[in-house]
Amino acid sequence: MTNEDKKKLIATVVGRSAPFTVDHADGSWLYSTEGEKWLDFASGIAVANTGHCHPKVVAAAREQIGKIIHAQANMFYHQPMLDLAAKLVEIVPGDFDNVLFVNSGAEAVENSVKLAKQSTRRPAVIAFQGAFHGRTHLTMALTCSKTIYRGHYEPLQGGIYHAPYAYPYRTPASEDPVDYALSGLDRVLAAEVFPDDVACILVEPIQGEGGFIVPPKEFMQGLRKKADEIGALLILDEIQAGMGRTGKWFCHEHYGITADIVTVAKGIASGFPLSAVVTRSEYFGKCLPGSLGGTYGGNAVACAAGIATIAAIEEDGMIANAARQGEKLRGFFSDLQAKYPAIGEVRGLGLMSAVELVEPRSRKPNPAAMKKFVAEAIARKVLTLGCGMYDNVVRFLPALNLSDAELDHALGVYTEAAKAAF
Ligand SMILES: Cc1ncc(COP(=O)(O)O)c(C=O)c1O
Repeated sequence: MTNEDKKKLIATVVGRSAPFTVDHADGSWLYSTEGEKWLDFASGIAVANTGHCHPKVVAAAREQIGKIIHAQANMFYHQPMLDLAAKLVEIVPGDFDNVLFVNSGAEAVENSVKLAKQSTRRPAVIAFQGAFHGRTHLTMALTCSKTIYRGHYEPLQGGIYHAPYAYPYRTPASEDPVDYALSGLDRVLAAEVFPDDVACILVEPIQGEGGFIVPPKEFMQGLRKKADEIGALLILDEIQAGMGRTGKWFCHEHYGITADIVTVAKGIASGFPLSAVVTRSEYFGKCLPGSLGGTYGGNAVACAAGIATIAAIEEDGMIANAARQGEKLRGFFSDLQAKYPAIGEVRGLGLMSAVELVEPRSRKPNPAAMKKFVAEAIARKVLTLGCGMYDNVVRFLPALNLSDAELDHALGVYTEAAKAAF
């Protein structure tokens, strides 16, 4: 069978943005089987935060593989899980003392919602328009960043109510973005669901797939207040924005709030499938043993990689680097904005940054400009992704240890891509 035939075996439902087969990777660079070199500004969708194959992560995983791979969590404790749990409760802001390890982002969200329902004995969930929380049957019902994630799958899980997210760029000019969104939440609580039926308010601290939407901190503070007022738990989905990506360990540190439950995945283990629900024992203490969990959760190799990931981020100063490089990246696009009216807004925190593209002299979404820009960047071998409800946002997710030379290289390519696309 030729390689082209083998490619046809892979389900076509999986989208693919890069036109090459990857052979290996090192830091911010990917190498194709044809021997070509690509700069990675996607990081496997915010996963390879420490760069690909960081030596500390590789060494820790190699060492653990030789000891035990599958130390099943219902059978025993294992040291990497104990050490990673201790590290997570140290770096996640708040008063946390309990961690459940599972395998993917969606699974962490599923478990956090189940935890909220079981521990409050309440049935309903508030999520937000534009949210992305995964593709499983529960999480697609929580998601509404694009119709493809939920269309053709109905009926969806019930008891989920969507309120408006604070999206300053797309709030009517006559309205205050925070009041507008929070009054939308009040409307949901007045007209659609009893407040004392709400188990949790689930929210991304920056909407990721929905378009890298950074809400004003007063919106997130308002959600914290509202959750307390109605006795619901506040779940912060830090799956894309966490693990140093925004120039803080966790994005919600920018807003001065703490959560009741935090979901962590993607960057947690530099590419090993691992996720975590970080919370307080008072909530897990109300759940029946065995009612949450799974066969593979907290894999020993993944946990060892997770500990090494946190050490690498700390020791190599990656969080400060993410803040600095993110500012430079956004500064570059803000300068371009004066030249290209297609750039409607430049936004982001740290290395979770994006540009929203519009039809000139309007705020009408311009998905064609996004597709063209991304294609031009990829043609020049800088792997770049789009996102957004309207497919009109280019997002930039390089490794957190991106060097000055690597950023300059990307900005050179983006200068040419902008010239060709806008
Ligand atoms: C905020 C957020 N939550 C949940 C998920 C789902 O994670 P996974 O794809 O690992 O299931 C994602 C993935 O992009 C995400 O960005």
